[in-house]
Amino acid sequence: MRSPRRTALAGLPDHVTIYEVGPRDGLQNEAEILSVETKAEFVRRLASSGLSTIELTSFVPPKWIPQLADAEELLALLGPIPGRHPVLVPNERGLDRALAAGVKEIAVFASATESFAQRNLNKSVAASLQMFSPVVKRATEAGLAVRGYVSMCFGDPWEGDVAASQVTAVAVELAAMGCGELSLGDTIGVATPGLVADLLDDLSDRGLGRDRLAVHFHDTYGQGLANTLVALQNGVTTVDSSAGGLGGCPYAGSATGNLATEDLVWQLHGLDIATGVDLEALCRTSLWMASLLGRPSPSRTVRALASSLE
Ligand code: HMG
Ligand code: MG
Repeated sequence: MRSPRRTALAGLPDHVTIYEVGPRDGLQNEAEILSVETKAEFVRRLASSGLSTIELTSFVPPKWIPQLADAEELLALLGPIPGRHPVLVPNERGLDRALAAGVKEIAVFASATESFAQRNLNKSVAASLQMFSPVVKRATEAGLAVRGYVSMCFGDPWEGDVAASQVTAVAVELAAMGCGELSLGDTIGVATPGLVADLLDDLSDRGLGRDRLAVHFHDTYGQGLANTLVALQNGVTTVDSSAGGLGGCPYAGSATGNLATEDLVWQLHGLDIATGVDLEALCRTSLWMASLLGRPSPSRTVRALASSLE
């Protein structure tokens, strides 16, 4: 199998943490609901390809995300696995479920816009932050790590362009309530590199340094890798992506999948940045998942390498 030629570029980190969201952000958007055994196999294959941070599932009401209704069964089937394995939790009911399942890290998920907060959380932005506050407090008291997402950081399907001030306001509140890592969601994939650099500067001005920021690009307009490179040049070292480019958001119709992990790994290894990922094993996993879902992976790297892996 071909590998990228390695040439470093000044100003980039030596290592990037890939935060894999395929089992959660990917599978939440699939029309077909996979069996819990298949999901567990997917997670195990991702882990054995070297991904040490994998978001597993969501503890949300099954009627909101039927694809992830088997969260408890999945965690029981997986048992303890080394690495970080966060789950999405919207409220205290979800936290109770996550704690009972032995979870060590959760993520709450806020929106920069009112329209998406209403559609995704059935609440205003302020009411959703009020919902998260006791979740974050109880989770941190129980020793869990807590990530805070901000969705619609650059644009929103109902409201159009999103001002950076809306994003920073929500991010500052999430940090103040106790979230450690903050992930900047380009939920519908409309960011371009200048917007990314400007938002990182604005967050920095509000006291939110790059060391706690992650970027979460959906690849709707093919900007995921360009945006990632700019984020890395600006000091970010945690990047969210999904194996094979699976994903989207069921409550944001125009969103396609996340930046594909394989495309990200190809770029990072080409830049001589360590990820710990075995690209061949990862591509094989995405080809296996694509065969189960009955359609080719949207990842350019998976497609380019597929014939050499048959
Ligand atoms: P609601 O319907 O207003 O909630 O939803 P509720 O509190 O009125 O409860 C309704 C029913 O659900 C009740 O049961 C509750 O007990 C039950 P009933 O009395 O009808 O029998 N319930 C629960 N059951 C199980 N687990 C729970 C739970 N909570 C309540 N945790 C709520 C409000 C916030 C719960 C809902 O809107 C929700 O969970 N939304 C999440 C939707 C979602 O998961 N979206 C995708 C993830 S976000 C995303 O993809 C973006 C991201 O990738 C970043 C980016 O790209 O930008 C992260
Ligand atoms: Mg997402």
